[in-house]
Amino acid sequence: MDRTRTALRQMAQEDPELAARLVLQALPAAVRRIPPPIDYELTVTGLGSWRVAVHDGDARVEPSAAEDGGRDGLDFRLETDPAGLAAMAAGTSPLRLMLGGRLRIRGKRRRALKLRAMANGDDVSIADAAAAGAEIDPDAIFRALEYLIDPEWTRGHRFTLAYEIAPGAKGTGAGTWCVRVNDGHRLQVGTDPPADGGPDATVKLDFDTYKRLIGGEITPAQGMREQLTDIEGEIYPVTLLGRWIDRSQGRDDAELARECHQREIQARRAGTWGGIDGNGSGNGAAAESAVKSSLPLQVEGTTADGDGGAADPALAPAGGRRAPGELMGYGELYALWERQNWRVHELDFSVDREQWVTTPREAQENTAWSLGSFYIGEERVTADLAPFLLAAPSGEVEVFLATQLVDEARHAAFFDRFGAEVMALESDDLRTRMRELEAMMMPPWFETFDDGLRDVANRIKASPDDLDLFVEGITTYHLVIEGVLATTGQRMILRYVEDHGLYPGFQKGFSLVEQDEHRHIAFGVRFLRDAIAEDPRHGETVERAVAELVPNAAHVFCPPYADDPSDFVSYGYHSSYVYGYAYRKLKRRMKVLGLDTPPPEDLMPGPIASPEEARAAGMPV
Ligand SMILES: [Fe+2]
Ligand SMILES: [Fe+2]
Repeated sequence: MDRTRTALRQMAQEDPELAARLVLQALPAAVRRIPPPIDYELTVTGLGSWRVAVHDGDARVEPSAAEDGGRDGLDFRLETDPAGLAAMAAGTSPLRLMLGGRLRIRGKRRRALKLRAMANGDDVSIADAAAAGAEIDPDAIFRALEYLIDPEWTRGHRFTLAYEIAPGAKGTGAGTWCVRVNDGHRLQVGTDPPADGGPDATVKLDFDTYKRLIGGEITPAQGMREQLTDIEGEIYPVTLLGRWIDRSQGRDDAELARECHQREIQARRAGTWGGIDGNGSGNGAAAESAVKSSLPLQVEGTTADGDGGAADPALAPAGGRRAPGELMGYGELYALWERQNWRVHELDFSVDREQWVTTPREAQENTAWSLGSFYIGEERVTADLAPFLLAAPSGEVEVFLATQLVDEARHAAFFDRFGAEVMALESDDLRTRMRELEAMMMPPWFETFDDGLRDVANRIKASPDDLDLFVEGITTYHLVIEGVLATTGQRMILRYVEDHGLYPGFQKGFSLVEQDEHRHIAFGVRFLRDAIAEDPRHGETVERAVAELVPNAAHVFCPPYADDPSDFVSYGYHSSYVYGYAYRKLKRRMKVLGLDTPPPEDLMPGPIASPEEARAAGMPV
C-alpha cells in the first residue's frame, strides 16, 4: 500500500514547506495527468514560481524567470502557500481551496479545475518523479521519511544510519543525513551526527548514483556490485530501511510475498540435522577462541604472513613445541582434530533467518551463488575423499584422512542446515537442494570438480597402489581445491560478513570450517613434503598438476554477473585482491615444498594486487 497520500496530508499540517518541496519535485510527473492543453504559472509563497505547460505528449515544468511576467499564452496564474499546494496534491479540489482562501487564481479559472487530475490514480512516487526528469531534492526526500515510514514497521528495531552523498557530476546534491529508527516511534531525520556514538552504518554514494537508485534505474544490489554504493558497518539495518522505503512507495509487494513464502519454509525446516538453535555454547573452548578472532590458525608450520596472526597457545601441538618452520606431524594433526571438533546442530541461526528473509531476492541470489559453490563443493569433496582413504599409503595417513572425511561430511551438513533453515531452499532433501544450487554454477566450477577432482578420485579408485597418482590427487584436493579455492573464498566471505554484521550463526560455523580446512591443508603439505623428500620425482608431479589446474580453477572466483574475469568485484573485493591472496597462499606452500611457483600471470586470470596494496586497502593479505 502506498503511504504517500497519508504522509503528505500529515506533512501538510506539520511541515507544509517540506510537503510543498516534495510536491514540486513530483510535479513534472504529476502534470502529465492533466488533460492537455494547459499552460499556467504556479507561485508558492516563499518557494518560487514555475511555469507549467502540458501539450500533446509533452509536459514541462520550468522555473519562471522574472522577465516572463505578463507574457502571452498563460491560461491562468495560480498562487498558493505550501500547505495549499500539499493539500491540492493530496486530492483536495482547487475549488475548495479557492473558497477557503488558500488558493488565488487569476485568468481562466475553469481551466484550473483540470488540475484535479493530478490527484487521480496512484500517487506519483518519488521514483516516477525521478524518472520524469525532476530535480531531485535529497534533503526533502530524507526528511519525508519521517512521514513516509509507518512507525509500526519499525517495531523491534533500533538503529541509526548515516547517508553521505558526494556531489554528482554537476557538483550538486551533496550532504549528510542521519536517520534514526526507534522501535515503533516515528523516524527522526537530521543532518547532525548522532549524539550517542557513531551510526550503525554509513552509506556512501554520489548524487548521480542516488538519483539512479531513487528512480529505480539501478537496484541496491547492483549499486553494491558496481561499487557505486559503499556501506561501512552493518548491512542489515540498511537493507531494512531500504525495504521500508520501497514499502512506503508501494514497491515492496513482491519482496513481501517472497519473504512470507520463505518464512513458511524456514518454520517447516526447524530442526534439520537435529538443530536446536541454542546459543552454540556447546562448541569447545578451542573452537570459541578461533571464532572470536576468526583468523586462520597457523597449523602449517609456516610463519604468520599478515592474515594469520600468532598460533593460539591452546592449540599448541601435543607433546611440546615445534621448531619454527617445522610442519606438524600426522599425530599432532590428529590430536588437533580431536580438540577442534565442533557441532553443527548447536549453531544458532535465529538472527541469520531474519537477515535472510529481509534481503531482497537479487542480493539473495548473489549470496546463494557464492555460498552455493562451497555448499555443493563440500558434498563433492566428502564423496571424492573416500577413494583417497582406501588408497592411503600408510596407517597414519589413513587415520588422518578418516578424520578429514568426518570433517567434510560435517561441512556439508553445516551448509545444508544453513541452506534448508536459513536460505529456505525449496527442496526437502540434501541432494535435491544441491541440484538447486548446482544449476547456478558456471562451467569452470564443473571443470574443476568434475574433470579435476572427480576424475583423479576415480583413477585412484581404479589404481589404489599408484603413489604417483596419489600425489597428483593430494595436489588437486589439498593444494589446489582447498588451498587455492576454498581458503581464499572463505577468508573473503568471512571478512565481509564480520565487517558488516551479517549472519552471525553462519559466521561462527564458517570460521570453524575454515579452521578445519587449514588443518587439512597442513596435512596435504606435510604429506607432499615427505613424498618429495623420498622421491624428488613427486615434486615434478606437484608442479605439473598446479600448472595445469590452477589457471582454470581460479575462474571459479568469477561471479556470474561479471563480464571480465580479470576485472570484477565480488563481496566488495576487486578481483586483484582475490587473485593476490590465492596466489600468495599457493606460493608460500610451494616454497615449503621446495618448489617453484609459475608467475602470477601464468596462473591467475587477472592481475594480482601486491601485499602492500592489499594491506593499504584493508584487504586480507
Ligand atoms: Fe570442507
Ligand atoms: Fe577440507
